[in-house]
Amino acid sequence: MTLIDGKATARTIKQEIAARVAEITARGGKRPHLAAVLVGHDGGSETYVKNKVLACKECGFESTLIRYEDDVTEDELLACVARLNADDSVDGFIVQLPLPAHISEQRVIEAIDHRKDVDGFHPVNVGRMAIGLPCYISATPLGILQLLRRHGVETSGKHCVVLGRSNIVGKPMASLMMQKQYGDATVTVLHSHSRDLKEECRRADILIAAIGRPGFVTADMVKPGATVIDVGTTRVADPSRPRGYRLSGDVDFEAVKDVAGAITPVPGGVGPMTICMLMLNTLAAGERKYYP
Ligand code: GUN
Repeated sequence: MTLIDGKATARTIKQEIAARVAEITARGGKRPHLAAVLVGHDGGSETYVKNKVLACKECGFESTLIRYEDDVTEDELLACVARLNADDSVDGFIVQLPLPAHISEQRVIEAIDHRKDVDGFHPVNVGRMAIGLPCYISATPLGILQLLRRHGVETSGKHCVVLGRSNIVGKPMASLMMQKQYGDATVTVLHSHSRDLKEECRRADILIAAIGRPGFVTADMVKPGATVIDVGTTRVADPSRPRGYRLSGDVDFEAVKDVAGAITPVPGGVGPMTICMLMLNTLAAGERKYYP
């Protein structure tokens, strides 16, 4: 069994990005600049954004953090998005989700100039991804593609099962795995109303679990030798940890690791890759790679 080490892969990719930034600046070019907008004080979001700012430093990027309290109005936030769209010093930016209930996330996402949408959430980027045009691809599916590629997992002609159909993981993942230029695989998408779920999973050469249910994938759902990618990061109470919780994946790792040919751990698998892919998208934004 191969342990797919997302932490080490992310470290390597960040070093590659930093080397590219050093080349750009040596030629008199400017450092990529990422801005992040954080609303409120949600613990998870604070940690994500802090880590995004840290990753910018590691990659040699400029970063700007813009904070609002929970009571910011939608109009104020939309005005901030408009300012960032117009700010030529900012190559790309993200608005950290979730947003407070009184703000429409969709309206905010659609207000972002798709040429600066390094999260790849804008419908223009989602649509371009679906038809194979150059665009920003959202971080989690992009990170999974990189993990598979960099660990020599053959995808072409293989059977890939995606568990989950969310807009940010399941749907784009299935779309990418199906496309010739990315996964070139045969793809099945399973969800809460799918029948014969165990049998369908057992047919997978590559099983990507993104349903947010801790330990859902058990050993009897995995074909011997299959590659198992665990996207789950559910916080489960654990009084023995200093924080009072631990992260639990969608896969019963201890049991599945003896059946799988390769598997990602949680934490240390897909998670570290996502911030790293945001850095890759920001580098692309700085270089005007997709929207010259
Ligand atoms: N919240 C959780 N993941 C993400 C992400 O990738 N981007 C943004 N903007 N918010 C998130």
